[in-house]
Amino acid sequence: MIDVLFVCLGNICRSPMAEAVFRNLIEKEKLSDQIKVESAATSAWHIGDPPHRGTITKLAEYNISTEGMTGRQLQKEDFQKFDYIIGMDHSNVTNIRQILEQPDHPKVMRFLDLTEHEKDVPDPYYTGDFQETYDLVIEGCQALLDKMKREHKELSR
Ligand code: 4NP
Repeated sequence: MIDVLFVCLGNICRSPMAEAVFRNLIEKEKLSDQIKVESAATSAWHIGDPPHRGTITKLAEYNISTEGMTGRQLQKEDFQKFDYIIGMDHSNVTNIRQILEQPDHPKVMRFLDLTEHEKDVPDPYYTGDFQETYDLVIEGCQALLDKMKREHKELSR
């Protein structure tokens, strides 16, 4: 099993969106028995909360389910449990490295560095623009899967 963890500040807007989109993508590609996906927050603000209404509504427009998803905080032990630990913006990456006590491990990366954008995913909690975030999440998730297929040849069989 290859384990992917998306991380943002609150775990109610961007990282649950990436989790749900990526899960949908691997289901469509029939890779669910080989890839597992979760999400977490660097903060403790929304532990146990469902995703933000804006995230739920945007995903529902594309028939992507958020059922059963609840916020949780990143733990030091997650470093061993996951193969790809992906922050949605540069401050998430800084905080992830601190919490995991891993100053420069390559399995910690910024989401859109996997695309040509090489920028932070805008936080719709502040921008209110869940469509802009969704469009970037789609791109990033596809880029991540492409990278995983390059690094794990068994996914392409
Ligand atoms: P997220 O957005 O990190 O994409 O989940 C936020 C969610 C909640 C808060 C800030 C950002 N907050 O201040 O509660």
